[in-house]
Amino acid sequence: MEQYIIKGGNPLVGEVEIGGAKNAALAILATAIMSDETVTIENLPDVCDINVMLDAIAGIGGKVDRIDAHTVKINGSMICDLSVDYEYIKKIRASYYLLGALLGKYKRAEVALPGGCDIGSRPIDLHLKGFRALGANVDIRYGLISANAERLRGTHIYLDKVSVGATINIMMAAAMAEGKTTIENAAKEPHVVDVANCLNSMGANIRGAGTDVIRISGVERLHKTEYSIIPDQIEAGTFMFAAAATRGDVTVKNVIPKHLEATTAKLLEIGCEIEELDDAVRVVASKPLHHTQVTTLPYPGFPTDMQPQMSVLLGIAEGTSTVTESIFENRFKYVDELARMGASIKVESNIAIVTGAEKYTGARVSAPDLRAGAALVIAGLAAEGITVVDDIYYIERGYEEFDRKLALLGAQIERVSTEKEILKFKLKVS
Ligand code: UD1
Repeated sequence: MEQYIIKGGNPLVGEVEIGGAKNAALAILATAIMSDETVTIENLPDVCDINVMLDAIAGIGGKVDRIDAHTVKINGSMICDLSVDYEYIKKIRASYYLLGALLGKYKRAEVALPGGCDIGSRPIDLHLKGFRALGANVDIRYGLISANAERLRGTHIYLDKVSVGATINIMMAAAMAEGKTTIENAAKEPHVVDVANCLNSMGANIRGAGTDVIRISGVERLHKTEYSIIPDQIEAGTFMFAAAATRGDVTVKNVIPKHLEATTAKLLEIGCEIEELDDAVRVVASKPLHHTQVTTLPYPGFPTDMQPQMSVLLGIAEGTSTVTESIFENRFKYVDELARMGASIKVESNIAIVTGAEKYTGARVSAPDLRAGAALVIAGLAAEGITVVDDIYYIERGYEEFDRKLALLGAQIERVSTEKEILKFKLKVS
């Protein structure tokens, strides 16, 4: 099993290029099958979750041509199977986007029902409520969701809770429904806008994405496009927090600074300096960090996908901070691992009370999920001594060449898979 081994203590310094947004890409790959013409997608992140999604598309008969690591051509004209297997859903929940895409295009789809996951129970009732409102019959039987409709008809849908997945899934189905659909209390995340922009470039008629009311006029067919995915705000935020935790000076390049506002606001609050450029943000952490309060919220609030990284940073900031998780109920699983590195964090219900320690000390820890795994790597980079992070396949689901990018910033980190390699690394850095 692969691990990261890290010798902490080096401030990260330099520039890092951010890749395409994984969460936007997963949905955009699903939209690509909605046309019978070839859709070219650029700035695709080369991470495991994307490869699973491409396999799922190929699995239903879509033609997938990987032009290079970051470009793919998809042709959905030969889709022969409207049923997406549990094999894919259990690896990435987001393969449920194929439900909205297939239902919109063929008015019929069957997708295995996703189970719970590492960060908590993840219902999809709002997705199904939306499909039903569009006129589909939706059944759950034998572990499968099957949705079918003679015709999908535009309608008015109010989402009881802001949900990125439900907003995107309903938007995809409604893009090819008859008439007008309004989604109220829609998610406003940058990737919702990116999916709407991609669909519009394929001939859809979607207005208002990025606000809480999205208006969609259905079209009969979608055509080819060439579309480039937006930069990944969470990858960018992770590097910004790594810079802050190591008292470094890092410029994250190829980002949309507006998408990072919640992250930059918190870094400013705890004592970092931030310089915003057109498509880059520089983080300088030369002074001691101090405590703050953070609550995760839907965009433009502080992203839940940055919550573990935030706690890691506050764990070595002066004073007592609180981190409130308001989106997912089980997102503090990394706390016990972090405690092994010297953190003082107490979780009460959905609030972590973080008392800043002077420093972390290296230990062997396990990544409990994708973002928490990245957060433990940040702790390792800031820690005194050697940290080994196990179960890094979680991290590799969403970060492309994480170790290489960190090493280019001066981190002492290697991806290893044997005790011998661990020993070699220890000898090299001692
Ligand atoms: C997406 C992101 C994930 C991020 C999350 C919140 C992808 C692939 N994943 O997940 O990284 O952490 O947004 O920004 O883009 N809910 C319901 N019923 C539903 C759907 C959601 O109750 O039908 C609840 C969820 O349990 C959660 C909240 O709504 O409490 C928000 O979830 P949602 O925005 O749907 O998250 P995902 O789209 O699954």
